[in-house]
Amino acid sequence: MSESDVQLSPMGLSHLAGVLELGNQVFDVSAMPYTSWSLSSVAVHLDAQPDACWVAEADGEVAGFVLGSLSYDERADWGYVEWLAVAPDHQGKGLARTLLEESCAALFAAGATRIITDVEQTNTASAQLMQRCGFNDSVTVTLFVRHAPAEGDSSKQSRSRAHPTDPAKARLHAAARKSERD
Ligand SMILES: CC(C)(COP(=O)(O)OP(=O)(O)OC[C@H]1O[C@@H](n2cnc3c(N)ncnc32)[C@H](O)[C@@H]1OP(=O)(O)O)[C@@H](O)C(=O)NCCC(=O)NCCS
Repeated sequence: MSESDVQLSPMGLSHLAGVLELGNQVFDVSAMPYTSWSLSSVAVHLDAQPDACWVAEADGEVAGFVLGSLSYDERADWGYVEWLAVAPDHQGKGLARTLLEESCAALFAAGATRIITDVEQTNTASAQLMQRCGFNDSVTVTLFVRHAPAEGDSSKQSRSRAHPTDPAKARLHAAARKSERD
């Protein structure tokens, strides 16, 4: 299939399942920074900044996508490109670059003064892509992780299990806690 058979379009509701599935295929959702990949993370982007969310389709299947949003770390004028993926069969043909350009153009048009993206240290493909597309290496953040003791206090363990593990539920709980505080 030639890349002329690939169609780019703004993401819509009909793409949700295909986008979710492709993300599950290419992101290692068991490891950071991909653990928050979920239907709700896709939907939140589509809801908040639909013009910065694009899909590439080939033969009726989602072959790639980008999800951007306008706000980063409480800065409403900073855009954030959080999720970008291209299916293995379509990689190396400039699709990610095209998707990224569409999303960035929409974010700048919507008022972004800069656009942030984060790249996991071993993801050289993504790092190269970003550098080729005008992103400069800025701040490096290392996540230090301390695991729970293998055999710990059983009351603490049962308390942590009581927290919802579903990201959508976690967001609802966070929103509920915030409205209690307000
Ligand atoms: C990273 C990814 C999106 C790149 O998609 P792609 O469509 O193959 O990328 P493109 O063909 O548009 O490549 C654009 C540039 O990126 C760089 N690049 C892409 N793949 C690369 C690789 N495997 N190794 C090194 N550089 C690479 C190149 O500089 C390339 O430009 P050039 O061909 O002019 O040198 C794709 O590999 C992918 O989906 N990976 C898994 C998911 C992921 O890591 N997403 C990013 C974090 S959310």
